[in-house]
Amino acid sequence: MRTHILVTGGAGFIGSNFIRFLLAQRPGVRVTNLDSLTYSGNLENLTGIDADPRYRFVKGDICDDAAVSPLVAQADAVVHFAAESHVDRSILDSRPFVVTNVMGTQTLLDACRRAWAGNADRRFLYVSTDEVYGSLPLDRPELKFTEETPLQTNSPYSASKAAGDLLARAYHHTFKMSVLTTRCSNNFGPYQFPEKVIPLFVTNLIEGKQVPLYGDGLNVRDWIHVDDHSDGVLCVLERGRPGEVYNLGGNNERSNLELTHAILALMGKGPEMIRPVADRPGHDRRYAIDATKALRELGWTPTRSAWPAALERTVRWYADNPTWWRRVKSGAYREYYAKQYGGG
Ligand code: NAD
Ligand code: DAU
Repeated sequence: MRTHILVTGGAGFIGSNFIRFLLAQRPGVRVTNLDSLTYSGNLENLTGIDADPRYRFVKGDICDDAAVSPLVAQADAVVHFAAESHVDRSILDSRPFVVTNVMGTQTLLDACRRAWAGNADRRFLYVSTDEVYGSLPLDRPELKFTEETPLQTNSPYSASKAAGDLLARAYHHTFKMSVLTTRCSNNFGPYQFPEKVIPLFVTNLIEGKQVPLYGDGLNVRDWIHVDDHSDGVLCVLERGRPGEVYNLGGNNERSNLELTHAILALMGKGPEMIRPVADRPGHDRRYAIDATKALRELGWTPTRSAWPAALERTVRWYADNPTWWRRVKSGAYREYYAKQYGGG
């Protein structure tokens, strides 16, 4: 078992849930969390973990080799979550996406190459996304993304993630590093930054505000609970074959309209709370994941994502934790919201 794991982006939504999951599942592990605390990084996501002697936080940028190199040298494995993660922000300004998602990933990979000097026991896991595959049509429900599907990115976000994905592949091929890649579908669960659709809609409704639904609402996403994603990442880290890509998905495809009505019903609200707004430019129509490889090779299967129970638990978490999201939704968030949705 790898005992010292460097997690990048561990103050974000998935990274913080992953650290919680990892420390609970693997008592012998030590975790270093490297995070620069951008707008979506929040140490409150790690409340309760921060006192654990197996855990330490280091504030630093993955693009800064001086911060990265000593941490990589001490680690048996790197699980790389840190990223600019929101598609709409990449449409407003793509530059930070290229800097962090491409240059940051290159900085980490290169620091590992130097510090690990060909030791194949040390592993680098790149957390990619199903968005690198592009978009599927609505009228071909039998189609799903497999690991062989060509990369056809459509947003600056997905293009920058695909660039990191290909760099990870190249470092395995050229330098024989033990690199693994996961491509997961849309996550939901606690501590998700309320720019993403589920926490945005739930918290807006608690505040008595309408929910901005893009376009015709028929775009489809495959929803996976963040703990199933964490479980998949841990399976791939421990048992995946170096150089391989593993798809992870929730087997849970829903249109945005269906998702919105499910949230409204759980919260006792009516359809008048939907505000139809202009579509996202370049909006991918449908994502659907075939995760057979992870099941066949690793025995991984999503067990925590089934609706309506998983969605209901998530809605309840936001209802029970207003202090967390009200603080997150103050300050600079308001400027973002006004720019993105024009107020309202
Ligand atoms: P998030 O925005 O909630 O968290 C990102 C974290 O990275 C934050 O804590 C932020 O401070 C940190 N970070 C950003 N730039 C950094 C830098 N230069 N140096 C150090 N830290 C930096 O994102 P998330 O939703 O938790 O996504 C985490 C990862 O999972 C991303 O790589 C994303 O592409 C991938 N992913 C997300 C989803 C999803 O549904 N959210 C699905 C599949 C894959
Ligand atoms: O598929 C994995 C990806 O899922 C991750 O790689 C990304 O980091 C993550 O942000 C997510 O991307 P999406 O663009 O699918 O997620 P988002 O929550 O932004 O949007 C989900 C769907 O809801 C999408 O079809 C757009 C729609 N939407 C979103 C927002 C924010 C709305 O209709 N209104 C909104 O206000």
